[in-house]
Amino acid sequence: MPKQPPNKQTPRKSASQGDAATQQGIAQHDPNPSQNTAAGNNNDGSYERAVADRLAKRPARLGSPSVGNLVSNAGRTLTTNQGLQIPQDDDSLKLGLRGPTLLEDFHLREKITHFDHERIPERVVHARGAAAHGYFELTESLEDYTTADLFTRVNEKTPVFVRFSTVAGSRGSADLARDVRGFATKFYTRQGNFDLVGNNIPVFFIQDGIKFPDFVHSVKPEPHNEIPQAASAHDTFWDFVSLQPESMHMVLWTMSGRAIPRSFRTMEGFGVHTFRLINAKGEATLVKYHWKPVGGAHSLIWDEALKINGKDPDFHRRDLWESIEAGQYPEYELGVQLVPETDMLKLGFDLLDPTKLIPEELVPVRRIGRMVLDRNPDNFFAETEQVAFHPGHILPGMDFTNDPLLHARLFSYIDTQITRLGGPNFHELPINRPLCPVHNNQRDGFMRQTIVQGKESYQPNSVSGGCPFLAGDADAYRHFPAPAEDGAVKARIRSQTFADHFSQANLFWRSQSDVERQQIIAAYTFELSKVSDPAIRARVVGQIVHIAQELAEGVAQNLGIEVDPVGADIQINDYGIDASPALSLDAQPKGDITGRNIAVLVNDGVDDGAIASLQKLASAARANIRIVGPRASSVTTAGGASLPVDHALSSVGSVLFDAVYVPDGKAPPADPDPAALLFISESYKHCKAVGAGGSGAMLVAEAARRTGIDGGFAGPGLIVAKADNAKQHQAFLDAVGQHRWWQRPDAEKIPV
Ligand code: HEM
Repeated sequence: MPKQPPNKQTPRKSASQGDAATQQGIAQHDPNPSQNTAAGNNNDGSYERAVADRLAKRPARLGSPSVGNLVSNAGRTLTTNQGLQIPQDDDSLKLGLRGPTLLEDFHLREKITHFDHERIPERVVHARGAAAHGYFELTESLEDYTTADLFTRVNEKTPVFVRFSTVAGSRGSADLARDVRGFATKFYTRQGNFDLVGNNIPVFFIQDGIKFPDFVHSVKPEPHNEIPQAASAHDTFWDFVSLQPESMHMVLWTMSGRAIPRSFRTMEGFGVHTFRLINAKGEATLVKYHWKPVGGAHSLIWDEALKINGKDPDFHRRDLWESIEAGQYPEYELGVQLVPETDMLKLGFDLLDPTKLIPEELVPVRRIGRMVLDRNPDNFFAETEQVAFHPGHILPGMDFTNDPLLHARLFSYIDTQITRLGGPNFHELPINRPLCPVHNNQRDGFMRQTIVQGKESYQPNSVSGGCPFLAGDADAYRHFPAPAEDGAVKARIRSQTFADHFSQANLFWRSQSDVERQQIIAAYTFELSKVSDPAIRARVVGQIVHIAQELAEGVAQNLGIEVDPVGADIQINDYGIDASPALSLDAQPKGDITGRNIAVLVNDGVDDGAIASLQKLASAARANIRIVGPRASSVTTAGGASLPVDHALSSVGSVLFDAVYVPDGKAPPADPDPAALLFISESYKHCKAVGAGGSGAMLVAEAARRTGIDGGFAGPGLIVAKADNAKQHQAFLDAVGQHRWWQRPDAEKIPV
């Protein structure tokens, strides 16, 4: 008997419908029995197996399907890509001892050809990055707001891969550029991959994605000479933003310490846009996502950033790698700000406008889970470089809003990845592959990996019983039926509710401490001093006067120009709050000191007990003692032991450490190493904790004397004692926990 023609409706699997294909008389056989359950794809146990495997330790993962083509060369013979074993890899095939190389040398040709094609295009933005594996664990269910399993299954661990990045620089640029940091997280959930592709600043430069190419062109190196690399301090960037007042809020953030973070582990993250969560009743709630670092949010100062870029351009990348290797895992809490759908315009600004944040005083951040980064990638290229994030990768129980920046992003990411990763099949790369099953009728294309059995590749079909079925269960994604605006017309327009560009910048300024304000003024001064066109400088100052008079006057004075406002006076909405402490790094809780690096300056004759005590207390606080000595090998302690040195003084600088301690020892030499004195005075100038015990205090006093500080260094965060003991060391570590001690007026005078 011939098969019946397929029903117009594609067969659907659901608990209520049962086996729809059989009901319709289509399916004569079940091509994939493991799928043949009312619960759809996600209850066959394959996800659980893949997660267990992904979270497991390294050896167990070798050859595992969840991590793809993981290979170890340990104990293996060298082969060609075809598996042919190779006995010699040093000489090409020649005719005679000194003769020509032969074209038939397939080993040479394969090796060189592969090498010739090793590079792929770097990301058009966010090219410089570093990443880590880990997990997300939900601590509070959001089931009243969303059906996403990720946010409703309390205590469940979901594997994640996080890539941190700078925006403007090329792949090989230095980590401490003044720039926004990308904070992109891929959650491998049982319902599919969810990408939270955010930044470490909660707002963006532009309101509409159509301006993104203009913005990026302006901040990238100038096209005629490719200068400067990874820097906004040049004409085209400031020209663009001075003509684009909507950028003023975010530019202010990038002139603050937010743009020069201490580390990825001490950085906040933000989803930026307002998204939607959808609950089981089909009701929507607006949401903004936050990552809150357990180690507190901390930044460096510009003088340090400039020096670090020379001394260790991989400063952030190294910090992430080393802290994970040391078991000092970076940890963040995931927070959400939830706003009723009806309040889209009720907070004093438009929640569709990505240049606006929701002050935490208006809507508190609810912490719902934690993320731990506990495994470094096995291979930078295969994982960190080939990972492909996309803000459009969302889950059931989630949706977008009409943010016009977000909508451009929804197009941009896959489009660019097709070029960057060489075709449409990059979702099959191990790092991008979901851990839950993937079944559809997409086929072919460059570098296709999946081998789909059967002759169907279309819907509806009868040849394979209608498979893959349409989902009919709770895992199915459904769009929120957001109503269109009444009387909407098609036009290139922008809502008047996007027109206020300065109120939130003013709130940010009001919320900064005095020190932070001075740092911001100094940042504008540095950047604008590198701008060659005086008209651009003047226009920036004329814009920022609308943020705050004090800011514009400070910058104008440093530049030696007048404040000439651009346009008319601007009305500031203060939202009924004086300040938002969450916007100030100084006002935030300090967090713990896990992963902080403390330099201990030593010489031969250093006191054994002091080193042991510092190491014990620092280790209890999960901080690192780094022994910095006169040579790279070791010093001999007062007790005659050999103390290994982590860094020769000549190879590092104080800027690479969070604090410095000079322990007791034989009296310091009458002619101390100037590099040691600079180390101490620079740490003091950068307002870090400086500690010394016994004769170590003499070195600190000498450093002060040489820098011309009469009466020696003084003030908070300077922990100097006659005796080196555990109490003194604990006081010093407590001082490290403060991060910086800004109240050192004489520090300004130190010329380093
Ligand atoms: C709120 C605004 C934005 C945020 C938070 C953001 C964030 C990010 C992050 C974190 C990355 C790096 C992803 C990675 O580590 O691989 C990235 C890459 C990228 N972004 Fe955005 N972005 C924003 C706006 C835009 C806009 C408006 C566009 C274009 C219209 C855009 C286009 C791109 C492109 C093309 C890449 C490179 C992607 C790749 O090659 O994998 N972004 N973005």
